[in-house]
Amino acid sequence: MHILGIESSCDESGVALVKFDQFNSPADTSSAVKLPQLLSHALHTQIEMHQPYGGVVPELASRDHIQRIIPLLDQVLQASGVDIHQVDLVAYTKGPGLAGALLVGAGVAVSLAASMNIPVLGVHHLEGHLLSPFLSADPPSFPFVCLLVSGGHTQLMRVQSMGQYELLGESVDDAAGEAFDKSAKLLGLDYPGGAALSKLALLGDPKAFNFPRPLMHSGRLDFSFAGLKTSVLTQVNKMSAQQIEASKHDLAASIQAAIVDVLVKKSIAALKQTQLKTLVVAGGVGANSLLRQNLISECARLGGKVHFPELYLCTDNGAMIAMAAAMRLQYGIESGTKNYSFDVKPRWSLSALSL
Ligand code: KG4
Ligand code: ZN
Repeated sequence: MHILGIESSCDESGVALVKFDQFNSPADTSSAVKLPQLLSHALHTQIEMHQPYGGVVPELASRDHIQRIIPLLDQVLQASGVDIHQVDLVAYTKGPGLAGALLVGAGVAVSLAASMNIPVLGVHHLEGHLLSPFLSADPPSFPFVCLLVSGGHTQLMRVQSMGQYELLGESVDDAAGEAFDKSAKLLGLDYPGGAALSKLALLGDPKAFNFPRPLMHSGRLDFSFAGLKTSVLTQVNKMSAQQIEASKHDLAASIQAAIVDVLVKKSIAALKQTQLKTLVVAGGVGANSLLRQNLISECARLGGKVHFPELYLCTDNGAMIAMAAAMRLQYGIESGTKNYSFDVKPRWSLSALSL
C-alpha cells in the first residue's frame, strides 16, 4: 500500500510517500522488517518568511501552505516514481496546530482523496513526532517512554503500544522549544533561535551563569520553563549590549545546560518510574546535540537505550504523518474514510487519542 502524508500544522509544508505491507493480523506486528518504508519526502520551511516578525504569522503561514503543497506533491511523486493513481490513502495533520494552516493541508488531502475515490485519514501531529524514530535506521520497539520536545509541547508519555499513550508529565507553561526560542531572542538571535543558540553554546562555558532548573527536584514529571526565560531576561537587563555580545557563548551554553539538565533528569525519572528501559525522543528540540549526548550516556548508565529520529525528521515533516497513518492501519486501529467532509482540531491532546 502507498500512503501520502501531508503536514501543514505550523510553518513547514511537508509531503511524503510511504509504502508498507498490510499485516495479516495485528499480532504480526513484532517484526521490524515490516515497518513502513519512506519512499520520498519534500519539505518547505517558512522560517525566513516569518523571521522579520519574530514569530509565526498565522495568516501568512496559511497562504504559503496553499502555494507549496501541490508543487511538493509533484516533487515527491517524481522522486519516488510512483504514479498518483497508485496512492491508496491520503493522510493529513488534523491537529493540533494553527487552524488556518491545518485547514489548507486537510483541504488538499480531502480533495485529492475524493478525486481518486480513495480513503483519507486525519492524523495527530504529536503521534507523528512520536512515531518518527520508527523511520530511523535503528527503530525502537514498544513499550517505551517518549520525551516529546517541540516548539509547542514538552511531554513525557508512556507508550505501551501503538495508539496507547499515557501522559506522565508535561510543561505547565512554556515548552522547551519556546524556552530556547525566547532565550535566543533575548540574545538577539533570529526566530526560531533554538538551533542558533545551541551553535553559540558550543564555544561557551555552561557554568558561567547559574540559571534555574525549574521543578528539577520536585519529584514530579511536570516541567516549567517560564521562570528560566524571566531569569535570562533579568540577567541580560543587567548587562550592556557589549557585555551581552562578549558573553553570548557563555550565556547560550548556560541556558542550554539548564534546559537540557531538566529534560534529562525528568526523562530518567520517567524511565525509573515506569521501569521501562527504552526512551524515544521526538520533536524539534530532539535535534539538540547536548540533549542527545546526555540522554545517551544517562540511559546507558541505567542499562537502557535511547532512540532519536534522523535529524531531518526532528522538525515538522510529511513523512511522520504518512508513517503514523500507515501504523494506524497496520495495527488495525483505523482504516481511513471516504466521508469527505472534514474538520481540524487546533487543540487536541494526545492522551485523548489513546485506545
Ligand atoms: O517540532 P518542531 O519542528 O515544531 C513544532 O511542532 O513545534 O520544533 C521546533 C522547535 C523550535 O522551538 C526550535 O527552536 C527547536 O525546535 N529546535 C532546537 C534545535 N533545533 C530546533 N532547539 C534546540 N536545539 C536545536 N538544535
Ligand atoms: Zn511539530
